Amino acid sequence: MASKYFLTLAACFLFAYADVIPLLEGNKIKISTGTGAFCGDTVNFVTNHLVPTYNQYKEFLEIEFVPWGRATLYENGTIECRWGNNDCWANRVHRCAINHLKDDQDALVAYMGCEFSQRHAWLGSYGCVHQIGLNLVEIDYCVNNPGLDTLDEDAAAAASGPVEVLDFIPSVVFNDQINQTLHTAALQRLNSLVCFSLAEAPETGVFGCPIL
Ligand SMILES: *[C@@H]1O[C@H](CO)[C@@H](O)[C@H](O)[C@H]1NC(C)=O
Ligand SMILES: *[C@@H]1O[C@H](CO)[C@@H](O)[C@H](O)[C@H]1NC(C)=O
Repeated sequence: MASKYFLTLAACFLFAYADVIPLLEGNKIKISTGTGAFCGDTVNFVTNHLVPTYNQYKEFLEIEFVPWGRATLYENGTIECRWGNNDCWANRVHRCAINHLKDDQDALVAYMGCEFSQRHAWLGSYGCVHQIGLNLVEIDYCVNNPGLDTLDEDAAAAASGPVEVLDFIPSVVFNDQINQTLHTAALQRLNSLVCFSLAEAPETGVFGCPIL
């Protein structure tokens, strides 16, 4: 019996060890997520994976959101979105809010967490903009004047690589390297991926990662 338990333990340990993917660059892991306002998989990833992982390891994470979904930007500035005008509007709200939150990562993640919480998702309101304490007049002005900034062009450009390669929303990219294996793994067990990479570097003080 004892040797059977030992073998099981050893197998778990080997699996865990083999699972470590080095994601830490310097003292940060950059995680970029391509989101879609009307996308149920984005709700799941942001709510159940990204926000909890961020809350646990925030000092080691650099978070970037690209709220574009599956949209097409025409030369005349018109955007066509997979789920229609409400989808376009909501993604534009996200881009405007994110632009105002770029210097406050905690607020940024809290805001996107709010937008994709089951309660608020798809409501088509400024509820989360208000909740996070952003200036509603400024955000509304941004939403209604897309010609005055390059947020749409920037998001379209940032989304194109991951959409082409990964063909999935949400897309997950670590440290600006598009990688199908890591994207798929992140959707299933982001917390574990991050934890094991941090545990590899003793100075992070992270240990005891759950094997998921
Ligand atoms: C912009 O271009 C697209 C694609 O050619 C077209 O479908 C759309 O009607 C145009 N919109 C405007 C406002 O011209
Ligand atoms: C993706 O990442 C995995 C794990 O780090 C690595 O083994 C693989 O070579 C990468 N694939 C590409 C195409 O870079």
